[in-house]
Amino acid sequence: MKGVGGEMCECVTLDHEWGGSYAAKFSASTLHPFVAFEVVLTLDQPAGSLEFWTGEIEKMDDTHFKLYNDNFLVGTGGYLKFDFQVHYSGDSRPDVIDATMNGVDVCDGGDRWTTETPYENSCLSTGMLPYDYSQALCMSFLFYEAQRSGHLPDTQRVTWRWDSAMNDGGDVGLNLTGGYYDAGDHVKFGFPMSFTATMLAWGLIDFAEGYETAGQTDYGREALKWATDYFLEAYTAYWEFYGQVGEGGIDHGYWGRPEDMFMKRPSAKIDTEAPGSELAAETAAALAAASIVFKEDDPDYSTKMLGVAKELYDFADELREYYHNSIKDAAGFYRSWSGYGDELCWAALWLNRATGNKTYLTKAQEHWDEFTLAEDALQFSWDDKKAGDYALGSMLDPENPQYETALKAFLEYLKNDASYTPGGLVFLDEWGSNRHAANVAFISLWAAKYGDQADSEANRQWAEGQMNYIMGDAGHSFVVGFGVDPPQRPHHRSSSCPLPPASCTDGWAQNQDGPNPHVLYGALVGGPAKDGTYVDDRKDYQHNEVACDYNAAYTGALAAMIENS
Ligand SMILES: *[C@@H]1O[C@H](CO)[C@@H](O)[C@H](O)[C@H]1NC(C)=O
Ligand SMILES: *[C@@H]1O[C@H](CO)[C@@H](O)[C@H](O)[C@H]1NC(C)=O
Repeated sequence: MKGVGGEMCECVTLDHEWGGSYAAKFSASTLHPFVAFEVVLTLDQPAGSLEFWTGEIEKMDDTHFKLYNDNFLVGTGGYLKFDFQVHYSGDSRPDVIDATMNGVDVCDGGDRWTTETPYENSCLSTGMLPYDYSQALCMSFLFYEAQRSGHLPDTQRVTWRWDSAMNDGGDVGLNLTGGYYDAGDHVKFGFPMSFTATMLAWGLIDFAEGYETAGQTDYGREALKWATDYFLEAYTAYWEFYGQVGEGGIDHGYWGRPEDMFMKRPSAKIDTEAPGSELAAETAAALAAASIVFKEDDPDYSTKMLGVAKELYDFADELREYYHNSIKDAAGFYRSWSGYGDELCWAALWLNRATGNKTYLTKAQEHWDEFTLAEDALQFSWDDKKAGDYALGSMLDPENPQYETALKAFLEYLKNDASYTPGGLVFLDEWGSNRHAANVAFISLWAAKYGDQADSEANRQWAEGQMNYIMGDAGHSFVVGFGVDPPQRPHHRSSSCPLPPASCTDGWAQNQDGPNPHVLYGALVGGPAKDGTYVDDRKDYQHNEVACDYNAAYTGALAAMIENS
């Protein structure tokens, strides 16, 4: 857009004038991060010179000046501002009537992030009591949208997020964009991401009615596909799978927007030289489960996922190794403590469910025996899938009592022998206690629907108690933006950032005491300590972080709660 009739471009603000000179500010955005800039200013009358301190200057002719800097990192929104001065002879002031930035016309200021339409909760209250599980289910998918990495589609509802990490995979000459940021940070950790996908798929399959009632089936599938698209992309050759992008230490040292990241994000893989059974098997489980979700509506996609799932399972089973020995950086964050036996059984069961092929039940049985999976299930998590093996096995291999027996014993342990907070939350781990409660609530709700009907009512009631504690029985909600007195300061970088052009790396966002500027609707925070205490403190990542895996079984459990309402 041109300045009209000698009118100054909107991207230029006049500061002051004196004889034959003026000082002004340039500010514009192209909504893309960049590492160098070149601004060309066009004047409506000749000027002798321009002065500028943010880079180099080249006078192209009397009315055209190029201002550039070859090494200048600009993040979110590609927002650039600088001061400059114009010196001229003659009586009338040469105005800037045209401006381009990196080849884009920015005379009108360019495309800008805007606060004109503030981000709002698009998940309306449905009036469901005692808690609005339907609204919470809808909001959970807003959280997953906030965790998206890569290029964001036009349908993106979380408008304070933008394209980010567009060079992921560039270090190995591949395109590994997409997938989910793990938690309050921006590493793409494959192991918990694949468990997240498996659990989203499981909920979509076995609590499909709840999803339908809430009108969330399409959003659920979209959230699942955001992960599975990435897994297919990361499976770069036969038995070669990228299981991490970004490095924990480097990533965690940065507090800012994902859109503004310029640090190294190395890519790490498993392959025949350096295998990784937990990661390969959990991704196989995720893809097999997702193949069931998409079987009718997108049979080609479903078939493709199932093919990769089979290969990844064989890879996991035939070349056995702890995945964190191959993707070493993961050892400090998502080390597999429970080993790979639980994932091998889990993947075999999901493959049986997806294919109907009995060979996979035999394989599941072999894993069960080899790894004595009936023992030591104390939680159900990104690490330990044993309780999931019990449930799924009891459905797929009903003649075989081992699964049902172990499932019942696990549910009895939860009710009678596990620790609880004084308020009644089952307390299975200091890290993300809510997430652990929601994970086992999912198993219990599943057993209430599909397991021994004699225990159904007890399992359902117990799980409802856990879910309701999370949603408000504690005296407040543990879900951001939901219910009464919810958390406002989750340990989460992007939602803690002010809208650009304000900086997010100057320490304010991390350290200020107020709410995060963007409400991270739908995110389940870590939860109380064993004594029941909880403080809504951004710095307390043990109790107030959020994560993709925290919301995963929780989302399916919400669908179950809707079915039971
Ligand atoms: C990378 O892959 C994504 C998803 O498949 C695609 O949308 C994008 O265009 C690709 N980027 C490049 C640079 O090829
Ligand atoms: C079942 O799966 C096994 C293992 O992948 C395979 O060898 C076999 O051919 C499959 N059977 C059928 C009927 O597809």
